[in-house]
Amino acid sequence: MADLETNFTGIRCPNPFWLASGPPTNSGEQVMRAFDAGWGGAVWKTIGEPIVNVSSRYSSVDWNGQRMMGLNNIELISDRSIDTNLREIAEVKKRFPHHAVIASLMVDSTREAWQSIVKRTEDAGADGLELNFGCPHGMSERGMGSAVGQVPEYACMITGWVKEVARTPVLVKLTPNITDIRMAARAARRGGADALSAINTINSITGIDLDTLTPRPNVGGLSSHGGYCGPAVKPIALHLVQQIASDPEVGIPISGIGGIAGWREAAEFILLGCGTVQVCTAAMHYGFRIVEDMIDGLANWMDEKGFRTVEDFRGLAVPRITEWQHLDLNYRIVARINRDTCIGCDLCYVACWDGAHQCIHLDKPAGPAAITVTPVAKAEALRATGGPTPTARIPRVDEAECVGCNLCWLVCPVENCITMVKIETGAPPQSWAQRTGA
Ligand SMILES: Cc1cc2nc3c(=O)[nH]c(=O)nc-3n(C[C@H](O)[C@H](O)[C@H](O)COP(=O)(O)O)c2cc1C
Repeated sequence: MADLETNFTGIRCPNPFWLASGPPTNSGEQVMRAFDAGWGGAVWKTIGEPIVNVSSRYSSVDWNGQRMMGLNNIELISDRSIDTNLREIAEVKKRFPHHAVIASLMVDSTREAWQSIVKRTEDAGADGLELNFGCPHGMSERGMGSAVGQVPEYACMITGWVKEVARTPVLVKLTPNITDIRMAARAARRGGADALSAINTINSITGIDLDTLTPRPNVGGLSSHGGYCGPAVKPIALHLVQQIASDPEVGIPISGIGGIAGWREAAEFILLGCGTVQVCTAAMHYGFRIVEDMIDGLANWMDEKGFRTVEDFRGLAVPRITEWQHLDLNYRIVARINRDTCIGCDLCYVACWDGAHQCIHLDKPAGPAAITVTPVAKAEALRATGGPTPTARIPRVDEAECVGCNLCWLVCPVENCITMVKIETGAPPQSWAQRTGA
């Protein structure tokens, strides 16, 4: 049976699922309800000198019926006092001694300010500290948040100040709004960080209201760039996590964040080296109970795969990502179309001819002339009527010309209708580096 108990840099918790710093961790009452629901840990909404927030604060991108595929916010750190937050941290730790409570911190960039808040937070009983060097809006204009995370020397210096006094593990939360995240990760490591959290939100403007001509979110007719997160950012977050997980100059544990909404995404981040995962948008969208499915789903998958603990599969995908020059140039796949399940929508044909490599052909139909509406309309009509049409022309792949780009498979609306099949070329593996002697 899978055992999800987690030890992250000495911080123990019942499972690797933590709430990320944000609205769901804004108060002790919320964090306690989250722990009751099953979350293993929580990173408190960033604590600092209390600030004021604007109204409105959030905007989103919907895509094809999916609400909040991407979420953008211009919210700043906690607008509750440091005293209130610390008192509630102490209460939560008293009631949940075996759950992880990490305090996210952000104060002025002085040694005194940092060391003072660190001592007060640890006295309140927090299990660890997360330094917010990632917030991309509002605080960065005041020399905090991503203004620190984007300058490796500052990140190293402030981490060092914190480490001079910290008794609990120090996590540094990185901004994705930087050319090479490894520079910031290495700087945090040099400063003595025990672990990294990645990623914070990505600079964004989600859209412009075409009636008022005002970007969203609208604050009295003006807007501001915000931080993007949610399902849309997962691929970017995975890439950035992989960058730091595979960098020998980093080499410290990672708490993965960005677009995690279920156990599958959690497993992906762990496979890329993360010891815990953090969730913000999905908890804002669906509530704390999503963690039940995350726990069951991950445990079932681990049982199926024969992994007993998270450590058994943590990082297994890291060596499977390499530089392009090391990929095998002699590996070859081609598209095969299942004639029995093809609905004759022509999307693969159009994509291949207009957007790829012109190797899918439409043979003349045996019956009456083929439908002449657009491929998208045809696909929708065929799906609505529930199946293939006798007039549809079934596309044929010219395998000699197919480059195995995957586009037809990606656009095909019928699951498993197009498969990409490996062709045995007989040629031994050879990379670009080997071929060119580079
Ligand atoms: C409304 C909102 C407020 C946030 N506030 C904070 C914060 O105070 N401190 C922080 O480190 N991250 C903050 N974040 C960023 C999240 O912790 C997280 O890094 C980001 O949302 C990506 O995760 P997700 O895709 O699961 O939302 C906030 C995110 C949102 C949406």
